Amino acid sequence: MPALVLLGAQWGDEGKGKATDLLGGSVDYVVRYQGGNNAGHTVVVGDQKYALHLLPSGILTPECTPVIGNGVVVDPAVLFSELNGLNERGVDTSKLLISGNAHIITPYNVTVDKVTERFLGKRKIGTTGRGIGPTYADKINRVGIRIQDLYDESILTQKVEAALEVKNQLLTKLYNRRAIEAGQVVEELLGYADRLEPYVADTVLVLNQALEQDKVVLFEGGQGTLLDIDHGTYPFVTSSNPTAGGACTGAGVGPTKISRVIGILKAYTTRVGSGPFPTELFDADGDALRRIGGERGVTTGRDRRCGWFDAVIARYATRVNGLTDFFLTKLDVLTGWEQIPVCVAYEIDGKRVEELPYSQTDFHHAKPVYETLPGWSEDITKAKTFGDLPKNAQAYVKALEEMSGAPISAIGVGPGRDETIEINSFI
Ligand code: GDP
Ligand code: IMO
Ligand code: MG
Repeated sequence: MPALVLLGAQWGDEGKGKATDLLGGSVDYVVRYQGGNNAGHTVVVGDQKYALHLLPSGILTPECTPVIGNGVVVDPAVLFSELNGLNERGVDTSKLLISGNAHIITPYNVTVDKVTERFLGKRKIGTTGRGIGPTYADKINRVGIRIQDLYDESILTQKVEAALEVKNQLLTKLYNRRAIEAGQVVEELLGYADRLEPYVADTVLVLNQALEQDKVVLFEGGQGTLLDIDHGTYPFVTSSNPTAGGACTGAGVGPTKISRVIGILKAYTTRVGSGPFPTELFDADGDALRRIGGERGVTTGRDRRCGWFDAVIARYATRVNGLTDFFLTKLDVLTGWEQIPVCVAYEIDGKRVEELPYSQTDFHHAKPVYETLPGWSEDITKAKTFGDLPKNAQAYVKALEEMSGAPISAIGVGPGRDETIEINSFI
């Protein structure tokens, strides 16, 4: 049975949480495979709104088993506060599984994230300050702390001491900060061990056995394609692989198991943090998209940068992820514009370019080439079928589909579960 990947096709905040939650009722497992609590996924169920950071969006569906895979970085304090928040609202979180191989975001990783950004000044990445980059750096440097280390105090102590040896030099000599005491960190981490234990599992085995038993597994990406460490707008990216291949490494499932890759695509574009963004708007249209679309970060509360739809990026996302479908979100936000510009190509140093340039310098110079499509003024939030949409909205969707290189199989016309037009079934 199918393993599906659901991921962001732009710079994040495309509406992955809503899309995952929508599919949650038809899947057995929802798996986060990368990132951590830098993600902010909003799910609206009836009149209830949930903001999830670390937990897979499937946690809101009782039949579904939510899984935090080995590729995720876990801040235990954040995990517990998210679990507590959901439990207080009556959500049963007892089915959660967490990979023992997932790395822990330690307090010193959070400190290093913050001081590094401050040190970079104008050149900062604009990270979420949650310790994501430094935790992945420790993982790659082979000085990371994993969840399973909490169950061997001696190993944990050795690892924390080793990690802090270099970091304390940096903190005290370069950043003019106080050194961090290894003993205190070990004590704090050990304090999480008992409460975490019931959730810790060999998630690779669990997921592969589930697939053998014809269960449906949905892999939910954090962030988006253009924030991918390998395929995004480096260095203005996150430190993991939200792209489809990340699902395999971040969950331990082979590529032959994945049958469908769904790209979540906003009907316009947003970005949080620093970095190039060719269609960014600095005018009243940008302000209107931000206001109507409620474009404010779920994790940091920062205003999102807003711009028109960029088909070059969508085509790129299709290619690097092998997308089989798009889920187009927030079409309703575009209601009311007489004309809607769509970026179909870039002009770079006087030349028209159809595909995303691999060179960072070229991408910084890219100017959008727009085609303008006619808008619509009718309320579309009640539309249930494609045919319910006004003709110009239908034409907008068809044009985006043509430019982006994969079929649009669902359309979001509002934040709620039921505010969705399903065109082709995903499962
Ligand atoms: P994620 O990080 O990809 O899960 O996306 P976020 O939750 O950060 O941001 C998406 C926002 O758009 C959330 O506030 C959602 O409730 C909202 N949303 C999702 N789909 C739609 C849609 O089709 N229409 C409207 N108006 N809002 C939507
Ligand atoms: P969801 O899952 C949008 C951005 C940050 C920053 C860069 C690196 O809600 O789509 P990090 O803290 O990850 O080292 O920051 O990545 N970023 C996001 N932008 N949505 C997200 O998640 C993001 N997660 C990280 O703003 O530019
Ligand atoms: Mg988000």
